[in-house]
Amino acid sequence: MSDSIASYLLTWYHQNKRILPWRDLGNPYAVWVSEIMLQQTRVDTVIAYFERWMDKFPTIESLADAGEQDVLNLWEGLGYYSRARNLHHAAKILVDEYDAQIPEDVKDLIKLPGIGPYTAAAISSMAFGHDAAAVDGNIRRVYARIFDIDIILGTKEAEKIFWDLAEKHLPKGEACDYNQALMDLGATICTPRNPCCEDCPINEFCKSYTLGNQEMRPVRKKKKQVSHHIHAAAVIVDAERGKVLLAQRPKKGLLGGMWEFLNGRVEGNPAEGLAGVIREGYQVQIHVGNPLCIIDHAYTHFKITEHAYVCTMLKSSQKENWRWVDLKELEDYPMGKIDREIAKRLQQSDV
Ligand code: ADE
Repeated sequence: MSDSIASYLLTWYHQNKRILPWRDLGNPYAVWVSEIMLQQTRVDTVIAYFERWMDKFPTIESLADAGEQDVLNLWEGLGYYSRARNLHHAAKILVDEYDAQIPEDVKDLIKLPGIGPYTAAAISSMAFGHDAAAVDGNIRRVYARIFDIDIILGTKEAEKIFWDLAEKHLPKGEACDYNQALMDLGATICTPRNPCCEDCPINEFCKSYTLGNQEMRPVRKKKKQVSHHIHAAAVIVDAERGKVLLAQRPKKGLLGGMWEFLNGRVEGNPAEGLAGVIREGYQVQIHVGNPLCIIDHAYTHFKITEHAYVCTMLKSSQKENWRWVDLKELEDYPMGKIDREIAKRLQQSDV
């Protein structure tokens, strides 16, 4: 990228940059937390989570000292919960091995859990002003359009092209503002659909703008059809004690460490399949009662429709990862979107 493109972009950024709560604080911890939250979540959603997080865990030490349940509770609703567990784990490593200081260089940052090449470069440039080139989704789109890159996104070849471009065109000493200028341009002007090219400060340099192929850049892989699973959930209540049974998921994998109602995948009629699925999955006998609700949720690679029924246990049973929870205390248990919705419906019902 010629110097004039970088300088036009920087001028635009200084006049138009978004006011974001983690910007210009001079606090590397805030940059780190925000970057992890922003990995798979939009800026608008992240702002409130970031502010709550910084209130509750204002320092690396306070995060390292926190319990995992508190960490997951604050993350609830952001999804991709391994991000929260990695942040927590990395805070402990920083306290134990780095004197509670975030390292400045990409090569050290990248050794921490949850930090990949993009996040390492973002922290190194934005928190410490180092000349580290960063490439994220917005930046890929901007470069793909300026240089009319027609290689399929996500391939090794495309990755090399984007990182080489980012290295080559990084204005020395300006990486902090330059990286964020590209991100803001991608988020507000060079958007995936209906980009506002007339308002773009570098449209005169943009090959895609000249060719009119902006909506075809970057080139995406064809989407696979996502599979759709039907699940049934047993909301097992002990009406006398006002309690309901939750199970904690294994620490590793999807929604690791979160709490859920006993459930399983069913074929055919969910009400008829539920008792069998719970017997096989959890070795417990239940009576399936009235339907409570039906919840739809889309994960990245599949969709679930979950049918929840109010159930009772036929023979008392207890496991290490089970808790009988008071209906008023369900908020204390971190859950994914489906189970939180079921929990809310249960609290609103007269069960
Ligand atoms: N996306 C990820 N990091 C960002 C930042 N610092 N500013 C704007 N968008 C971002």
